Amino acid sequence: MTMQDPKTYFIRTYGCQMNELDTEIMAGQLEKRNLTLAPDEESADILIFNTCSIRDLAERKVMGKLGQMGRSHKQHRLIGLTGCMAMAKKDSLFRKFPHLDFVLGTNNITDLGAVIDEALYTKKQVFRTEDKFEENLNYLDAKREDKVKAFVSIIRGCDKFCTYCVVPYTRGSEVSRPPESIIEECQQLISQGFKEITLLGQNVNSYGKDEPAWNCLFHDLLYRLDKIPGMGRIRFMTSHPVDITLDLMQAIRDLPSLCEFVHFPLQAGSDRILKKMHRIYTKEQYFEKVVNLRQIVPNVALGTDIIVGFPTETEQEFQETYDALKEIRYAISFIFTYSPRKGTPAIRWKDDIPEEIKLERLQRLLDLQIEISQEDRQTMLGSTVEVLVERFNRDGRHLKGRTRCWSKVIFEGDASLIGTFQRVKIHGYSHQTLVGELAPALIMV
Ligand code: 5AD
Ligand code: SF4
Repeated sequence: MTMQDPKTYFIRTYGCQMNELDTEIMAGQLEKRNLTLAPDEESADILIFNTCSIRDLAERKVMGKLGQMGRSHKQHRLIGLTGCMAMAKKDSLFRKFPHLDFVLGTNNITDLGAVIDEALYTKKQVFRTEDKFEENLNYLDAKREDKVKAFVSIIRGCDKFCTYCVVPYTRGSEVSRPPESIIEECQQLISQGFKEITLLGQNVNSYGKDEPAWNCLFHDLLYRLDKIPGMGRIRFMTSHPVDITLDLMQAIRDLPSLCEFVHFPLQAGSDRILKKMHRIYTKEQYFEKVVNLRQIVPNVALGTDIIVGFPTETEQEFQETYDALKEIRYAISFIFTYSPRKGTPAIRWKDDIPEEIKLERLQRLLDLQIEISQEDRQTMLGSTVEVLVERFNRDGRHLKGRTRCWSKVIFEGDASLIGTFQRVKIHGYSHQTLVGELAPALIMV
């Protein structure tokens, strides 16, 4: 290393879990090069924005931040931009932000070191944004933020092409990761003491379809992962309703490690809007899957994503979404107002629902979800649940963890319980959180 070599880094992450994982992988690569994490963004020699393009607001946050950092008062050796905005905007970012040193796409994370070297030594702006994901990423050196839970990528990209969504363009087509590589990483995580693994992909249910010779579809992979000695809990995110199979439902019922929670985005309750979104299912087909799933796994909890104010959505069509939420009773709903994205098919339709109507529809769904969640929490009072203890709660007094169905639980206890499974008896709740107390361990006879 020469005197001028950068010594510290900081990565600011926006967006989804896949981005959080990519940040951990990049941090691992930087630490291998003897860089250390800076205490804050300002003091970092290398500052990276790992960005999101899913909605306009996500992009605006980063653009605002970059705009404020002119080259004249630059305290960083290098400023880089990675993630979905790198793919959506490519080298046009350099024109807008002359002080940006590199742009690295979602399929080129392996090249981070080379791109940094090139930017440092040529002093030119460097960009690498290939369309196809190269399956040679080193996941094993990822620098994990958490000590109890870890994300594991199993498939990248998305082939579904919903008309509103940038992901097929920013993350490319579906590429599954070889099962042996996933199993090896999970084994390593277990030996490091991790208790919960969340399998990640834009559509995990497509796993293995692009590689028929592997003979390993998503549920096959789950059966293999469940067999790994010491496996605690397995979760997965996200699923496309069309690809949720009976095999998967049975796996959730039968595999001890696989949690009874399915994030199962409906997006809209009207068939006309679903068709316009290119979701490739009708409301009836979706409901059929929910009925099947609840028959096979009666205690399953469901999550959803909803978009309100999609172009031309009428009040009556919105009402169908409302009614669907009321009927299905999700444990958790992520509700968004439609945001037109450049490069997507939906951009050709006028964004004709006024912002105040979008916000009003959003609020009505939020209110409904709060009502449903409160009722559900009420029914939990007095019950005993299994909690994986993750950390101290923000109040510093309680420990915090989650049930198998992803409900947040706090209870009093000491640090030695972090990373263990505990039985907790629920006696109250506040906001989104169940409050309980340690229950005596079950005595096995
Ligand atoms: N506008 C609003 N919400 C969107 N999502 C994806 N694209 C858009 C968009 N253009 C939502 C979907 C998806 C979640 C990750 O983000 O509900 O499931
Ligand atoms: Fe954002 Fe979607 Fe990209 Fe994740 S995959 S970073 S949510 S645009």
